[in-house]
Amino acid sequence: SVDLSAQIANMSVKNLFLNASGIHCQTEEELDELMNEPVSGAMVTKSMTPKSRFGNPLPRYYRLANGSINSMGLPNQGFDYYMDYLKNHDQKKPIIVSVAGMSKEEDLEMLHQLQDNDGYQGLTELNLSCPNVIGKPQMAYDFEAADDLLHEVFSFYKKPLGIKLPPYFDLVHFDMIAEVLNKYPLSHVNTINSVGNGLWIDTNSETVVLKPKGGFGGVGGSMVLPTALGNVRGLRQRLNDDIKIIGTGGVTNGGDAFAHILCGAEMVSIGTQLYEEGLTTFERVTKELTDIMEAKGYKSLDDFRGKLKVIE
Ligand code: DOR
Repeated sequence: SVDLSAQIANMSVKNLFLNASGIHCQTEEELDELMNEPVSGAMVTKSMTPKSRFGNPLPRYYRLANGSINSMGLPNQGFDYYMDYLKNHDQKKPIIVSVAGMSKEEDLEMLHQLQDNDGYQGLTELNLSCPNVIGKPQMAYDFEAADDLLHEVFSFYKKPLGIKLPPYFDLVHFDMIAEVLNKYPLSHVNTINSVGNGLWIDTNSETVVLKPKGGFGGVGGSMVLPTALGNVRGLRQRLNDDIKIIGTGGVTNGGDAFAHILCGAEMVSIGTQLYEEGLTTFERVTKELTDIMEAKGYKSLDDFRGKLKVIE
């Protein structure tokens, strides 16, 4: 057998897989099921706001042939609900807290509460990349605004903090976001969020498939794997070594996870496939990754992480 352990800041896991935020992690019942799932090494909450939200009107998720499109609009039970969950449940595996305020003020409010909560020493992830809330642009596409926010955050926030990024599509943008992020003691970067503002149409009825935003939504699943790999690789080449990367996007099998790790991912999360297949995805994908590693003679993830070859 092989060693699938990984480490981000003070979080050590025996298995590198976790859910992508938003999948199976909104309610206590879902969080319990993730907690009791025997294979995945960690879990992340739904991105939370200070107060609970219903989110956008339905339909707001649609399965595509090679992925999904969603415009959920951050439905969640509110910050206090998740703080109560953390306090009242044994952590058989680490829980990453995902926060996504509607404004800079809301982000700072939640991070202040996490900083002041002595019972909480885990990882937090600041989601700067939700594409689906009207009037709330993806802050990670505004490099100056992201820099300002992180500057203010790290003036008081001393616990492990990572950031969830949207995909970038130009190498100059990789340079620009990396230059900002390298100024701060981030535990990790999680890349990518869904590919924002795609559109899917039912040509029979000549109608969009999602109700919110006239049909626009974030695209995920295997069709975004190349974009995800490009972002993991491009950021791994540019970020300080102590900023780890959680690779997210397009993982449906062990080979996809292997590719994320070759590009430099420390851990790998699964979204669309987990939603469609259910929690047994973790066991299957772990077995597939293990088989690939054994066939290649690799004993741990360090044996190949980031060691992608290029054609000379
Ligand atoms: O695709 C996404 N959908 N990304 C997010 O960050 C939030 C989520 C939603 O709730 O709309």
